[in-house]
Amino acid sequence: MCSNIVDFKINGCHYKFPIVYGTYNKAINIAHLRENTEFITFDPGLKNTGVTKSSISFIDGEKGILLYRGYPIEQIIKKCSFIETSYLILNGELPNTAQLKHFSEKIKEFNCINQNIYKILDEIPNFCHPMGILSSLTYILTSFTNYLKDEDMYFHLLAKLPILAALTYRKKVGLPPSYPDKNISYVSNLLKMFFYIPNKSYQQNTIITDALDKLLILHADHEQNCSTTTVRLLGSAHADLFSAVSAGISALWGRLHGGANQAVIEMLEVILKSGGNIKKWLDKAKNKKDPFRLMGFGHRIYKNFDPRAKIAKKVAENIVKELNISDPVLELAKNLEEKALQDSYFKEKKLYPNIDFYSGIIYQAIGIPKDMFTVMFALGRLPGWMAHWKEMKLNMDPIVRPRQIYIGNKKRNIQKN
Ligand code: SDX
Repeated sequence: MCSNIVDFKINGCHYKFPIVYGTYNKAINIAHLRENTEFITFDPGLKNTGVTKSSISFIDGEKGILLYRGYPIEQIIKKCSFIETSYLILNGELPNTAQLKHFSEKIKEFNCINQNIYKILDEIPNFCHPMGILSSLTYILTSFTNYLKDEDMYFHLLAKLPILAALTYRKKVGLPPSYPDKNISYVSNLLKMFFYIPNKSYQQNTIITDALDKLLILHADHEQNCSTTTVRLLGSAHADLFSAVSAGISALWGRLHGGANQAVIEMLEVILKSGGNIKKWLDKAKNKKDPFRLMGFGHRIYKNFDPRAKIAKKVAENIVKELNISDPVLELAKNLEEKALQDSYFKEKKLYPNIDFYSGIIYQAIGIPKDMFTVMFALGRLPGWMAHWKEMKLNMDPIVRPRQIYIGNKKRNIQKN
């Protein structure tokens, strides 16, 4: 019989704390630790700290399991579209036919943006990174939404983020703005907005549409990752959804987080250009004095295979084969993975490929440029960010305001008149 309390002995005194049990994990509830013991906890990176209760996704890092609302990612990827997955993540259950139709129609209701956004985009210098552009334009959306009913905000962002992403891409490659097509699916419309060329007929490619649909599903949610926690943090201060998502986009941009997908391809290209000597680069990654890290490897939670990486590897192999692309970067990635997983350093530290190791190969095969990879990650993660913002509001989570260990000067007086 599990006990419901833990008993700590601190400075000779006993303190009892309740245990919180979740569906699969448990925690020591230290909400009253400081008032009872004068101690706070110290947990840099919050590696051992649960910051909320959530029912959206669950990761078992030891077993390499990822569930979205209880459904294994392996089943979702086979049986659902990204839009169905977005509905599931936002609402908790898979949609029936009527619900899915209504959800898709509601999104299409909001798939145009204020003309001022086009003018603002025109003024943004071409050398700006797409993630900076996307975060800024998302933030500006706040100014065009005060008429919105709360429940429409999610449709609004699901409709507009792909438009902002496509406009950002087209600006970078010198194409005129494109407009959404209400008559095709969410992902087909996303691709058409990216790649439609004026005065040319646009041919949809189901291989590409299917690969991108799967990639967006793989990114849809992932517990309290850095960018999702950022969205919840802003929401806890009662910032609005668009500002919170704009901040989430900025957090995702970091090389250690979503920015890794761009860094992986850049790393693989450097390794290829330098002769493809895998052993040399694995030795660099293992050398503490060398800042080089094997991008796309390692994860805070997964100490076994990232189930998404396994799926992404298959999607990468399929799309390269079906599009008849000879991609030396994919071959190098597979060889690098094989050698790293045989290496004691990676085995002992339980460093496996994560989602970012193969996703860039798929984006590249689709025709997405490297500096847009993390934008695509953001499009996939959007339902997760919004579901967590919604959940945080429903839970009425308190404002996030952690403590610190102060190591500065003792109180002192200014020695001057
Ligand atoms: C994502 O949180 C999420 O869920 C994120 C994400 C999501 O869907 O939202 O899954 C998406 O961000 C995936 C991760 C993408 N980032 C990378 O691929 C960058 C490379 N990976 C590392 O920087 C690192 O593995 C992290 C940032 C992902 C995790 O870092 P941790 O958990 O803080 O672990 P750590 O840096 O303390 O590493 C533990 C040990 C260290 O060695 P020691 O100091 O113990 O001797 O492992 C080593 C590290 O040096 N190590 C690596 C390594 N990753 C960790 N050594 C070489 N190459 C690496 N990639």
